[in-house]
Amino acid sequence: MEYNKIKNADKIIEKSPYLIQNPTQYKNKWSDLFENKNPIHIELGTGRGDFIINMAKTYPKINFIGIELVDSQLVKAVDRLSNLNLPNLKLINMDARNIDQVFGKEIHTIYLTFSEPWPKKIDEKKRFTHISYLKLYDKIFKKHKHIILKTDNKGLFAYSLESLSQYWYTFERVSLDLHHNEIPIPNIMTDFEKRYYEEGRPIYYLEASFEE
Ligand SMILES: C[S@@+](CC[C@H](N)C(=O)[O-])C[C@H]1O[C@@H](n2cnc3c(N)ncnc32)[C@H](O)[C@@H]1O
Repeated sequence: MEYNKIKNADKIIEKSPYLIQNPTQYKNKWSDLFENKNPIHIELGTGRGDFIINMAKTYPKINFIGIELVDSQLVKAVDRLSNLNLPNLKLINMDARNIDQVFGKEIHTIYLTFSEPWPKKIDEKKRFTHISYLKLYDKIFKKHKHIILKTDNKGLFAYSLESLSQYWYTFERVSLDLHHNEIPIPNIMTDFEKRYYEEGRPIYYLEASFEE
């Protein structure tokens, strides 16, 4: 997907106290940075940040880190945060492919929210639930692995169900229409989700875990 470029986006985001500029130096030390031992949850492809910011507001006893490749996307997140004091939130501008350089086995939950579906077979490896990513997550999860995925894309959802189950994850919750579920699932909407919800599109949801 192409995103609008914002001039000097890198300079704008680096001024934010929420942006961690040299994240590799905190590998295995993120709890020290947060100054507590609370669980750490990360979102891959955090975009404009609405989800991770509202999660941090709602769950102050969880530490959140939003990871986003495109600096122009993070400008909006940084702007939204300018008048907020959320000690349990950090942002990183990086490619999710390199998360094992930034985290040791210290992550409790990974959110994959409206990730690019990469529908062509040739791009399969770029899907965040491709086996190469699942192996990468093994390097950063604590003993208990926990993934929450939301998407409007049926193909990516079906692929993810298959790929996670082949990798021995079990499903704690699955919904083919998150917003019209018989048993409500606690949910904070992302920027893309709000848009799709207003268009009346179903949102697919899964929560998968694995205990070593
Ligand atoms: C469709 S948007 C969804 C944004 C947000 N999660 C939401 O639901 O509103 C996908 C986001 O993932 C980011 N992204 C794609 N590939 C990435 C990667 N390899 N590492 C980090 N971010 C990535 C894109 O730049 C984009 O901001």
